[in-house]
Amino acid sequence: MDELRQKYLGAISEVADEAALEYLRVQAVGKKGEISLKMRELGKMTPEERQVAGPALNALKDEINSALAAKKAALADAALDARLRTEWLDVTLPGRARPQGTIHPISQVMEEVTAIFADMGFSVAEGPQIDSDWYNFDALNIPEHHPARGEMDTFYMHRDESDNRPPHVLRTHTSPVQIRTMEVQGAPLRVIAPGRVYRADYDQTHTPMFNQVEGLAIDTDISMANLKWVLEEFVRAYFEVDTVELRFRASHFPFTEPSAEVDLRCSWEGGQLKVGEGDDWMEILGSGMVHPKVLEAGKIDPAKYQGFAFGMGIDRIAMLKYGIPDLRAFFDSDLRWLRHYGFSALDVPTLHQGLSR
Ligand code: PHE
Repeated sequence: MDELRQKYLGAISEVADEAALEYLRVQAVGKKGEISLKMRELGKMTPEERQVAGPALNALKDEINSALAAKKAALADAALDARLRTEWLDVTLPGRARPQGTIHPISQVMEEVTAIFADMGFSVAEGPQIDSDWYNFDALNIPEHHPARGEMDTFYMHRDESDNRPPHVLRTHTSPVQIRTMEVQGAPLRVIAPGRVYRADYDQTHTPMFNQVEGLAIDTDISMANLKWVLEEFVRAYFEVDTVELRFRASHFPFTEPSAEVDLRCSWEGGQLKVGEGDDWMEILGSGMVHPKVLEAGKIDPAKYQGFAFGMGIDRIAMLKYGIPDLRAFFDSDLRWLRHYGFSALDVPTLHQGLSR
Protein backbone atom coordinates (compact mmCIF):
# COMPACT_ATOMS: atom_id res chain seq x y z
CA MET A 1 0.00 0.00 0.00
CA ASP A 2 2.89 2.32 0.74
CA GLU A 3 4.23 1.56 -2.71
CA LEU A 4 0.88 2.43 -4.29
CA ARG A 5 0.65 5.65 -2.31
CA GLN A 6 4.12 6.77 -3.34
CA LYS A 7 3.59 5.76 -6.95
CA TYR A 8 0.33 7.63 -7.42
CA LEU A 9 0.90 10.67 -5.23
CA GLY A 10 4.29 11.15 -6.93
CA ALA A 11 2.79 10.78 -10.41
CA ILE A 12 -0.10 13.11 -9.63
CA SER A 13 2.23 15.83 -8.38
CA GLU A 14 4.26 15.70 -11.60
CA VAL A 15 1.39 15.61 -14.08
CA ALA A 16 1.36 18.60 -16.49
CA ASP A 17 -2.11 18.59 -18.01
CA GLU A 18 -5.66 17.45 -17.42
CA ALA A 19 -5.57 14.59 -19.92
CA ALA A 20 -2.60 12.96 -18.15
CA LEU A 21 -4.32 13.49 -14.82
CA GLU A 22 -7.47 11.72 -16.04
CA TYR A 23 -5.33 8.84 -17.28
CA LEU A 24 -3.82 8.51 -13.78
CA ARG A 25 -7.26 8.63 -12.18
CA VAL A 26 -8.46 5.70 -14.30
CA GLN A 27 -5.25 3.75 -13.54
CA ALA A 28 -5.62 4.24 -9.78
CA VAL A 29 -9.28 4.50 -8.81
CA GLY A 30 -11.14 3.72 -12.04
CA LYS A 31 -13.32 0.56 -12.15
CA LYS A 32 -10.37 -1.57 -13.15
CA GLY A 33 -7.75 0.62 -11.42
CA GLU A 34 -5.10 -0.74 -9.11
CA ILE A 35 -6.82 0.42 -5.91
CA SER A 36 -10.20 -0.96 -7.01
CA LEU A 37 -8.63 -4.34 -7.79
CA LYS A 38 -7.03 -4.36 -4.34
CA MET A 39 -10.43 -3.67 -2.80
CA ARG A 40 -11.84 -6.67 -4.57
CA GLU A 41 -9.19 -8.80 -2.89
CA LEU A 42 -10.63 -7.89 0.55
CA GLY A 43 -13.21 -10.66 0.06
CA LYS A 44 -10.55 -13.30 0.06
CA MET A 45 -9.02 -12.11 3.34
CA THR A 46 -9.63 -13.37 6.83
CA PRO A 47 -11.88 -11.08 8.91
CA GLU A 48 -8.86 -9.98 10.97
CA GLU A 49 -6.82 -9.10 7.92
CA ARG A 50 -9.84 -7.32 6.39
CA GLN A 51 -10.27 -5.20 9.52
CA VAL A 52 -6.81 -3.76 9.04
CA ALA A 53 -6.64 -3.68 5.23
CA GLY A 54 -10.18 -2.33 4.61
CA PRO A 55 -9.89 1.05 6.38
CA ALA A 56 -6.33 1.45 5.16
CA LEU A 57 -7.37 0.91 1.53
CA ASN A 58 -10.30 3.30 1.93
CA ALA A 59 -8.03 5.92 3.44
CA LEU A 60 -5.58 5.50 0.55
CA LYS A 61 -8.43 5.82 -1.96
CA ASP A 62 -9.61 9.04 -0.26
CA GLU A 63 -6.07 10.38 -0.18
CA ILE A 64 -5.58 9.76 -3.92
CA ASN A 65 -8.99 11.19 -4.77
CA SER A 66 -8.28 14.40 -2.90
CA ALA A 67 -4.81 14.65 -4.48
CA LEU A 68 -6.48 14.25 -7.91
CA ALA A 69 -9.04 16.97 -7.07
CA ALA A 70 -6.38 19.35 -5.75
CA LYS A 71 -4.22 18.80 -8.82
CA LYS A 72 -7.19 19.31 -11.12
CA ALA A 73 -7.94 22.66 -9.46
CA ALA A 74 -4.25 23.67 -9.63
CA LEU A 75 -4.10 22.84 -13.37
CA ALA A 76 -7.27 24.88 -14.02
CA ASP A 77 -5.79 27.83 -12.11
CA ALA A 78 -2.57 27.61 -14.10
CA ALA A 79 -4.48 27.48 -17.38
CA LEU A 80 -6.47 30.58 -16.40
CA ASP A 81 -3.27 32.35 -15.38
CA ALA A 82 -1.65 31.55 -18.72
CA ARG A 83 -4.70 32.83 -20.58
CA LEU A 84 -4.84 36.01 -18.56
CA ARG A 85 -1.18 36.61 -19.26
CA THR A 86 -1.68 36.42 -23.03
CA GLU A 87 -4.86 38.50 -22.91
CA TRP A 88 -3.20 41.18 -20.83
CA LEU A 89 -4.36 44.70 -21.49
CA ASP A 90 -2.91 47.91 -20.13
CA VAL A 91 -5.98 50.01 -19.44
CA THR A 92 -3.75 53.00 -18.65
CA LEU A 93 -2.48 53.22 -22.28
CA PRO A 94 -3.57 56.40 -24.07
CA GLY A 95 -5.95 56.02 -27.06
CA ARG A 96 -4.58 54.85 -30.37
CA ALA A 97 -2.61 57.34 -32.47
CA ARG A 98 -4.74 59.00 -35.15
CA PRO A 99 -4.34 57.80 -38.72
CA GLN A 100 -1.25 59.14 -40.48
CA GLY A 101 -2.96 60.14 -43.72
CA THR A 102 -4.43 63.60 -44.31
CA ILE A 103 -6.64 65.14 -46.97
CA HIS A 104 -4.60 67.06 -49.55
CA PRO A 105 -5.39 70.81 -49.60
CA ILE A 106 -6.56 70.53 -53.23
CA SER A 107 -9.05 67.81 -52.35
CA GLN A 108 -10.17 69.85 -49.35
CA VAL A 109 -10.72 72.95 -51.49
CA MET A 110 -12.65 70.92 -54.11
CA GLU A 111 -14.93 69.70 -51.31
CA GLU A 112 -15.37 73.23 -50.00
CA VAL A 113 -16.16 74.62 -53.46
CA THR A 114 -18.62 71.79 -54.11
CA ALA A 115 -20.39 72.41 -50.78
CA ILE A 116 -20.79 76.13 -51.50
CA PHE A 117 -22.12 75.73 -55.03
CA ALA A 118 -24.35 72.81 -54.03
CA ASP A 119 -26.00 75.22 -51.60
CA MET A 120 -26.75 77.51 -54.55
CA GLY A 121 -28.34 74.70 -56.55
CA PHE A 122 -25.36 73.64 -58.69
CA SER A 123 -24.68 69.94 -59.21
CA VAL A 124 -21.33 68.44 -60.13
CA ALA A 125 -20.59 67.42 -63.74
CA GLU A 126 -17.55 65.58 -65.04
CA GLY A 127 -15.80 65.03 -68.32
CA PRO A 128 -12.76 63.09 -69.57
CA GLN A 129 -9.24 64.41 -69.03
CA ILE A 130 -8.33 63.20 -72.51
CA ASP A 131 -10.78 64.82 -74.88
CA SER A 132 -11.12 65.40 -78.62
CA ASP A 133 -9.94 68.74 -79.98
CA TRP A 134 -13.56 69.34 -80.99
CA TYR A 135 -14.75 69.44 -77.36
CA ASN A 136 -11.65 71.22 -76.11
CA PHE A 137 -11.48 73.87 -78.90
CA ASP A 138 -13.93 73.89 -81.84
CA ALA A 139 -17.15 73.56 -79.86
CA LEU A 140 -15.91 76.40 -77.67
CA ASN A 141 -15.49 78.70 -80.67
CA ILE A 142 -11.70 78.55 -80.52
CA PRO A 143 -10.64 78.89 -84.17
CA GLU A 144 -8.22 76.59 -85.96
CA HIS A 145 -5.28 78.96 -85.70
CA HIS A 146 -5.79 80.22 -82.16
CA PRO A 147 -2.44 80.22 -80.30
CA ALA A 148 -3.92 78.05 -77.52
CA ARG A 149 -4.10 75.22 -80.05
CA GLY A 150 -0.37 75.28 -80.69
CA GLU A 151 1.88 72.49 -79.48
CA MET A 152 3.68 75.08 -77.41
CA ASP A 153 0.75 75.17 -75.00
CA THR A 154 -1.22 71.99 -75.53
CA PHE A 155 -0.36 68.33 -74.96
CA TYR A 156 -1.52 66.40 -78.02
CA MET A 157 -1.96 62.64 -77.74
CA HIS A 158 0.28 60.58 -80.00
CA ARG A 159 -1.42 59.45 -83.19
CA ASP A 160 -0.37 56.95 -85.83
CA GLU A 161 -0.35 58.17 -89.44
CA SER A 162 -3.15 55.74 -90.31
CA ASP A 163 -5.33 56.81 -87.37
CA ASN A 164 -8.26 58.78 -88.74
CA ARG A 165 -10.03 59.51 -85.49
CA PRO A 166 -10.08 63.20 -84.51
CA PRO A 167 -6.96 64.45 -82.70
CA HIS A 168 -7.12 64.17 -78.90
CA VAL A 169 -5.55 66.42 -76.29
CA LEU A 170 -5.10 66.49 -72.55
CA ARG A 171 -7.86 69.00 -71.87
CA THR A 172 -6.41 72.47 -71.40
CA HIS A 173 -9.37 73.70 -69.31
CA THR A 174 -12.59 72.37 -67.81
CA SER A 175 -14.67 74.26 -70.40
CA PRO A 176 -15.24 71.17 -72.65
CA VAL A 177 -17.42 69.87 -69.79
CA GLN A 178 -19.77 72.77 -70.64
CA ILE A 179 -20.48 71.22 -74.04
CA ARG A 180 -20.80 67.67 -72.72
CA THR A 181 -23.24 68.78 -70.04
CA MET A 182 -25.36 70.78 -72.49
CA GLU A 183 -25.54 67.73 -74.79
CA VAL A 184 -26.65 65.43 -72.00
CA GLN A 185 -28.82 67.69 -69.81
CA GLY A 186 -30.17 70.32 -72.18
CA ALA A 187 -31.48 73.60 -70.76
CA PRO A 188 -32.06 74.86 -68.14
CA LEU A 189 -29.02 73.66 -66.21
CA ARG A 190 -26.75 74.63 -63.35
CA VAL A 191 -23.47 72.76 -62.86
CA ILE A 192 -19.92 73.07 -61.69
CA ALA A 193 -17.18 70.85 -63.10
CA PRO A 194 -14.05 70.55 -60.96
CA GLY A 195 -11.07 68.60 -62.27
CA ARG A 196 -7.57 68.32 -63.64
CA VAL A 197 -6.36 70.25 -66.65
CA TYR A 198 -3.06 70.29 -68.51
CA ARG A 199 -0.84 72.85 -70.21
CA ALA A 200 2.75 72.71 -71.39
CA ASP A 201 4.00 75.18 -68.82
CA TYR A 202 6.37 74.86 -65.88
CA ASP A 203 7.74 77.55 -63.57
CA GLN A 204 7.16 78.98 -60.12
CA THR A 205 3.51 79.76 -60.77
CA HIS A 206 2.67 77.16 -63.43
CA THR A 207 2.65 73.36 -63.37
CA PRO A 208 1.86 71.15 -66.38
CA MET A 209 -1.11 69.70 -64.51
CA PHE A 210 -3.35 71.87 -62.38
CA ASN A 211 -6.95 72.05 -61.25
CA GLN A 212 -9.87 74.17 -62.34
CA VAL A 213 -13.52 74.41 -61.51
CA GLU A 214 -15.91 75.36 -64.28
CA GLY A 215 -19.28 76.91 -63.58
CA LEU A 216 -22.23 76.98 -65.99
CA ALA A 217 -25.79 78.23 -65.54
CA ILE A 218 -28.25 78.31 -68.42
CA ASP A 219 -31.85 79.49 -68.37
CA THR A 220 -34.22 81.85 -70.19
CA ASP A 221 -33.41 84.92 -68.10
CA ILE A 222 -29.79 84.73 -66.94
CA SER A 223 -27.66 87.89 -66.94
CA MET A 224 -24.26 89.21 -65.89
CA ALA A 225 -25.94 90.34 -62.64
CA ASN A 226 -26.61 86.70 -61.73
CA LEU A 227 -22.97 85.88 -62.48
CA LYS A 228 -21.78 88.70 -60.24
CA TRP A 229 -24.03 87.71 -57.34
CA VAL A 230 -23.07 84.02 -57.54
CA LEU A 231 -19.36 84.82 -57.61
CA GLU A 232 -19.55 87.29 -54.72
CA GLU A 233 -21.56 84.83 -52.70
CA PHE A 234 -19.03 82.12 -53.47
CA VAL A 235 -15.99 84.19 -52.55
CA ARG A 236 -17.52 85.32 -49.26
CA ALA A 237 -18.40 81.76 -48.27
CA TYR A 238 -15.10 80.33 -49.46
CA PHE A 239 -12.80 82.78 -47.70
CA GLU A 240 -15.07 82.74 -44.65
CA VAL A 241 -15.13 86.56 -44.42
CA ASP A 242 -18.04 89.01 -44.22
CA THR A 243 -16.86 91.47 -46.83
CA VAL A 244 -15.24 90.81 -50.16
CA GLU A 245 -14.76 93.08 -53.09
CA LEU A 246 -14.57 91.82 -56.64
CA ARG A 247 -13.44 93.74 -59.69
CA PHE A 248 -14.79 92.74 -63.08
CA ARG A 249 -12.32 93.62 -65.82
CA ALA A 250 -13.38 93.47 -69.46
CA SER A 251 -11.49 90.67 -71.17
CA HIS A 252 -11.71 88.24 -74.05
CA PHE A 253 -12.45 84.53 -74.30
CA PRO A 254 -13.67 83.02 -77.60
CA PHE A 255 -16.44 81.12 -75.76
CA THR A 256 -17.99 84.03 -73.85
CA GLU A 257 -19.36 87.41 -74.96
CA PRO A 258 -19.05 89.69 -73.12
CA SER A 259 -16.14 88.35 -71.08
CA ALA A 260 -14.69 89.46 -67.79
CA GLU A 261 -11.75 88.55 -65.67
CA VAL A 262 -12.43 88.81 -61.97
CA ASP A 263 -9.99 90.15 -59.38
CA LEU A 264 -10.24 89.97 -55.62
CA ARG A 265 -9.31 92.88 -53.34
CA CYS A 266 -6.53 91.87 -51.00
CA SER A 267 -3.43 93.03 -49.17
CA TRP A 268 0.02 91.56 -48.83
CA GLU A 269 1.52 92.76 -45.57
CA GLY A 270 4.72 91.12 -44.42
CA GLY A 271 4.10 88.26 -46.82
CA GLN A 272 0.70 87.66 -45.21
CA LEU A 273 -2.28 87.71 -47.53
CA LYS A 274 -5.52 89.29 -46.36
CA VAL A 275 -8.67 88.96 -48.43
CA GLY A 276 -11.28 91.73 -48.50
CA GLU A 277 -9.06 94.68 -47.62
CA GLY A 278 -5.97 96.50 -48.92
CA ASP A 279 -4.82 98.05 -52.19
CA ASP A 280 -3.89 94.95 -54.17
CA TRP A 281 -5.97 92.93 -56.62
CA MET A 282 -5.54 89.24 -57.31
CA GLU A 283 -6.93 87.66 -60.45
CA ILE A 284 -8.90 84.55 -59.57
CA LEU A 285 -11.06 83.60 -62.55
CA GLY A 286 -12.30 84.16 -66.09
CA SER A 287 -15.98 84.44 -66.87
CA GLY A 288 -18.67 85.79 -69.17
CA MET A 289 -21.97 85.18 -70.91
CA VAL A 290 -21.89 81.93 -72.92
CA HIS A 291 -21.30 82.68 -76.63
CA PRO A 292 -24.30 81.80 -78.84
CA LYS A 293 -22.06 79.57 -81.00
CA VAL A 294 -21.16 77.58 -77.87
CA LEU A 295 -24.84 77.07 -77.00
CA GLU A 296 -25.39 75.91 -80.58
CA ALA A 297 -22.51 73.43 -80.33
CA GLY A 298 -24.18 72.09 -77.18
CA LYS A 299 -27.54 71.77 -79.07
CA ILE A 300 -29.20 74.52 -77.05
CA ASP A 301 -31.23 77.21 -78.84
CA PRO A 302 -29.45 80.59 -78.34
CA ALA A 303 -32.63 82.46 -79.32
CA LYS A 304 -34.35 81.04 -76.25
CA TYR A 305 -31.59 80.53 -73.69
CA GLN A 306 -28.61 82.43 -72.31
CA GLY A 307 -26.15 81.53 -69.62
CA PHE A 308 -23.08 82.53 -67.72
CA ALA A 309 -19.89 80.53 -67.36
CA PHE A 310 -16.73 80.89 -65.34
CA GLY A 311 -13.47 79.01 -64.88
CA MET A 312 -11.43 79.31 -61.71
CA GLY A 313 -8.00 77.98 -60.74
CA ILE A 314 -8.41 75.73 -57.72
CA ASP A 315 -4.70 75.63 -56.92
CA ARG A 316 -4.64 79.42 -56.89
CA ILE A 317 -7.56 79.83 -54.48
CA ALA A 318 -6.16 77.04 -52.27
CA MET A 319 -2.85 78.92 -52.01
CA LEU A 320 -4.70 82.15 -51.21
CA LYS A 321 -6.88 80.69 -48.49
CA TYR A 322 -4.32 78.49 -46.77
CA GLY A 323 -1.26 80.68 -47.18
CA ILE A 324 0.70 78.24 -49.33
CA PRO A 325 3.49 80.20 -51.05
CA ASP A 326 4.76 77.73 -53.69
CA LEU A 327 2.49 75.96 -56.16
CA ARG A 328 4.98 73.16 -56.73
CA ALA A 329 4.65 71.91 -53.13
CA PHE A 330 1.22 70.55 -54.09
CA PHE A 331 2.90 67.86 -56.15
CA ASP A 332 5.95 66.99 -54.02
CA SER A 333 4.19 64.40 -51.82
CA ASP A 334 6.34 65.59 -48.91
CA LEU A 335 4.75 64.05 -45.81
CA ARG A 336 5.93 66.86 -43.54
CA TRP A 337 4.23 69.38 -45.82
CA LEU A 338 1.07 67.26 -46.03
CA ARG A 339 0.90 66.95 -42.24
CA HIS A 340 1.30 70.70 -41.92
CA TYR A 341 -1.24 71.75 -44.55
CA GLY A 342 -3.39 68.60 -44.74
CA PHE A 343 -6.87 68.21 -43.33
CA SER A 344 -8.44 65.54 -41.16
CA ALA A 345 -10.25 62.89 -43.17
CA LEU A 346 -13.14 63.12 -40.71
CA ASP A 347 -13.86 66.84 -41.18
CA VAL A 348 -16.10 66.95 -44.22
CA PRO A 349 -16.66 70.58 -45.28
CA THR A 350 -20.26 71.73 -44.99
CA LEU A 351 -21.74 75.21 -44.89
CA HIS A 352 -23.55 74.72 -41.59
CA GLN A 353 -20.64 73.15 -39.70
CA GLY A 354 -17.98 75.39 -41.16
CA LEU A 355 -15.94 74.79 -44.28
CA SER A 356 -12.47 74.44 -42.84
CA ARG A 357 -13.06 74.77 -39.07
N1 PHE B 1 -11.53 78.29 -69.75
C1 PHE B 1 -10.97 79.55 -69.34
C2 PHE B 1 -9.50 79.34 -68.93
O1 PHE B 1 -9.08 78.23 -68.76
C3 PHE B 1 -11.70 80.14 -68.17
C4 PHE B 1 -13.11 80.51 -68.49
C5 PHE B 1 -14.14 79.59 -68.32
C6 PHE B 1 -13.42 81.78 -68.99
C7 PHE B 1 -15.45 79.93 -68.61
C8 PHE B 1 -14.72 82.13 -69.24
C9 PHE B 1 -15.74 81.22 -69.07
O2 PHE B 1 -8.76 80.28 -68.77
